[in-house]
Amino acid sequence: MRAPVLAIETSCDETAAAVVAGRRVLSSVVASQADLHAPYGGVVPEVAARHHLGTVNGVVDEALAEAGIGLRDVGAVAVTQRPGLIGALLIGVATAKAIAYAAKKPLVMVDHLHGHIAASWLEPVALDPPFVSLVASGGHTRLDLVTDLRAPRLLGQTIDDAAGEAIDKGARLLGLGYPGGPALERLAATGSRTAHRFPVGLRGPDTRDFSFAGVKTALLYAVRERREPPDEGERADLAASYQEAVLRPLAERLIAAAVDEGVPAVALGGGVAANGRLRELVGEGAARAGLRLAVPDRSLCTDNAAMIGAASQFTDPVAWPDYLGLDAVATAPPGGIAA
Ligand code: KG4
Ligand code: ZN
Repeated sequence: MRAPVLAIETSCDETAAAVVAGRRVLSSVVASQADLHAPYGGVVPEVAARHHLGTVNGVVDEALAEAGIGLRDVGAVAVTQRPGLIGALLIGVATAKAIAYAAKKPLVMVDHLHGHIAASWLEPVALDPPFVSLVASGGHTRLDLVTDLRAPRLLGQTIDDAAGEAIDKGARLLGLGYPGGPALERLAATGSRTAHRFPVGLRGPDTRDFSFAGVKTALLYAVRERREPPDEGERADLAASYQEAVLRPLAERLIAAAVDEGVPAVALGGGVAANGRLRELVGEGAARAGLRLAVPDRSLCTDNAAMIGAASQFTDPVAWPDYLGLDAVATAPPGGIAA
């Protein structure tokens, strides 16, 4: 067995730590701050950073205890370096540096998107390249061709809102709480997907990019133009039709890209991949095209540290103690992923 990696993730509103050995997840602990941010209708960066600071040490201890190992058994420490909320990232990076330095271990600086892509490499899904990956989260929506897990190649991405952002904003327009994804999915389950025709951004057979600004505005008008607030049944129809307009292009462009690239499999990642309707749409498309569909467990789709431990095994480590001067970075690099 490869020496386990202790991985830490604090890029947004989840404080997470995990121990991963090769493809095996020995532990994965996630302390979500969602309840803390819910009253504000979105993540408040300063609140997130302060909460990470108070939580991260306990989460790391729990991950090590659950895996039944101590720091001396760890081969390396891995941490999300970018992209994300800078104050939140800093807590994870400073913690990881301190732990790695004290234990005289190498440190691996991991890109959060690389983590989402590498999640399907973990057991029990255990997908190997080549495949096309769709990562759809609150901050990102992108398609990558993965022929080598060390260097995913960007095929397309959103030109405005991320899919999860569009879903969260749509949920808010329909009076649902934050985060809106699960609530919108529940409401949509009782509505009609064809009751409303919402526009799909960037149509065309060769499109690999996404746009969700138009559909969001269309929902805004559909809600505002009514004389009376929609009743429960009408809200469900709006939710189902809106969700369909966001999810359909994700599924269709993922399948089309895999067929074009001639790969045998597609993978889902990111928080939106927890959505049952997206899984169904991609599942149907993959079956029609004869592709294997790899979907990690929901807990590995939403933000977690096990995926960071996975990606760290495809990222060059920095030897002890050369990483002390390295820092967190809020933005994504030009190619989209620092792998
Ligand atoms: O990957 P993630 O946990 O965090 C980011 O890196 O952004 O993704 C969070 C996003 C949110 O927009 C949330 O509403 C969405 O994933 N999400 C869902 C579902 N569960 C979470 N969207 C649709 N359906 C769901 N069941
Ligand atoms: Zn994420």
